[in-house]
Amino acid sequence: MPKLCVALDVEKERALQLVRELSAFDLVFKVGPRLFLEGGREVVEFIKERGREVFLDLKLHDIPNTVRLAVEEADKLGVDYLTLHTLGGREMMEWAVSACGDAKLIGVTILTSHGEEYLEFLRSGFKNLEDFSLYLARTAKECGLYGVVSSVREARRIKEETGLFVVTPGVRISSEHGDQKRVSTPEEAVREGSDMVVMGRDIYGSEDPKGAVISVLERMGGA
Ligand code: C5P
Repeated sequence: MPKLCVALDVEKERALQLVRELSAFDLVFKVGPRLFLEGGREVVEFIKERGREVFLDLKLHDIPNTVRLAVEEADKLGVDYLTLHTLGGREMMEWAVSACGDAKLIGVTILTSHGEEYLEFLRSGFKNLEDFSLYLARTAKECGLYGVVSSVREARRIKEETGLFVVTPGVRISSEHGDQKRVSTPEEAVREGSDMVVMGRDIYGSEDPKGAVISVLERMGGA
């Protein structure tokens, strides 16, 4: 069964409370820019002390040297996963890989908040987001990344063609999609070969986050 990763897109005190409440489950905790800016190091250490993995989701996208320096620091912090944008290009990814120690580098392909109109925005020659994502995943693999982030819709093709570790956000148990355009259920994520299902608002925004985790884990287990 894939791992379940809970996105802690909340303020620091709430994040610490959620980690306290949920760390009895075999979960990965995702720290994004909002939380990292408020209490990065402290929250990362708090999660690690409880024996859980940290997914630092800063989605780096900059010149190769700047990304290299950031990767070195994230590595020192002891995070388990670190994200960067594959759209940052080959050289950026290669420099990141060469600077990385134990952290697993995960390349974001196309954000799940983008729909097909994004191809037009980028003036890309790709006919659909799936082909574009697959191209980015293949490039990530060539550059030595450990895995990629994609929507559930592309997960199976990416997994079959690259063998990379596939992380899938945009997973919902509620009917609230918010800004996410390409959404799926936990069952679909498992069936499509996801290695890590990321869920934020449906867990931290629930009145009963523990109950939500139990329900998602059951649904994943029964898929
Ligand atoms: O609240 P929700 O379940 O939509 O949260 C999804 C999480 O996954 C957010 O923290 C978001 O930053 C992250 N993410 C994403 N799409 C990607 C990569 C990461 O939604 N392609």
